[in-house]
Amino acid sequence: MERTTPEVILTDFEKDIVEGLTDFPKHLSSKYFYDAIGDALFQDIMEMPSYYLTRAEHDILKAHKKEIVALFKNTGPFDLVELGAGDGKKTKVLLRELSDQWCDFTYVPIDISENSLKKLTRSLHHEMPNVAVDGFQGTYFNALKDLHQRDQKRKVILFLGSNIGNLAHEKAIAFLKGIRELMLPKDILLIGFDQKKNPQVILDAYNDQEGITAAFNKNILRRINRETDGDFDIHQFLHWEVYDPENGTAKSYLVSKIAQHVHLKKLRLEIYFKPWETIHTEVSQKYDDDMVNWLGKEAGLRIKTSFQNANGAFKSYVFSL
Ligand code: AVI
Repeated sequence: MERTTPEVILTDFEKDIVEGLTDFPKHLSSKYFYDAIGDALFQDIMEMPSYYLTRAEHDILKAHKKEIVALFKNTGPFDLVELGAGDGKKTKVLLRELSDQWCDFTYVPIDISENSLKKLTRSLHHEMPNVAVDGFQGTYFNALKDLHQRDQKRKVILFLGSNIGNLAHEKAIAFLKGIRELMLPKDILLIGFDQKKNPQVILDAYNDQEGITAAFNKNILRRINRETDGDFDIHQFLHWEVYDPENGTAKSYLVSKIAQHVHLKKLRLEIYFKPWETIHTEVSQKYDDDMVNWLGKEAGLRIKTSFQNANGAFKSYVFSL
């Protein structure tokens, strides 16, 4: 039996939990992976030998920094706006090059986490004191709107890490359209897209032997337990990864090993799981040039150029209007 009490005022997370866990098939959004524990687990994932994405993109930025910076500084001063800056590790390759070339720019990292913005700003002041940093705490679109209204300064927008892959195509197009609407004719947008490849390599990246990805996926249940006074028994769920080489979609699931009832006291919600019932938790889309072209076209963006790492596992595309 599944029931809720409508008079309770719910946060967005709580609303999404109720909606996702009472739907069929059940689902939760991967955006809720990232609490403090999830952030730390994702850092561990990026260090794993099998999770090639971060290193591949880092290699692209290192190998092509001169060509990339040439594109950035093309027509004078600009704001380098990074959507979801995190620890800025990869971006520092470009910042160092821009700083070495005495380019006239301001780095505008945007992040939802005040804490990670502060850390990044502090480390940049220390490592590259001549780089102007003007961080923005908030959502990507609020920040871009703010910049758009503030002045007509040229913008170079970065969206790294194949974070776009965590959006199903429809949402990715809406996201790109939202950015395009806030771009001026001379602005450019650099996005990292993980590429289709040997399916085994992809499965290994999302299903490591050490179980770090499993812990990352299951952490959403721990978070629900903590924030809604829930009693999910984490050990009664499996992390399961599938990859469809036809459409390039990798999907993460949590699979209930047994028939079980879960209670989320704060939400006055009881959820029933049949044995082997799933919760879909993440999409990690893989792309090829045709798909990226199509996404860009749908959003009204044109690919100017692209860069890839040595084995073609990952590509960075530069878009303009
Ligand atoms: C953040 N995002 C691009 C990662 C990915 O590859 O989809 C999240 C992740 N999920 C499992 N491992 C890493």
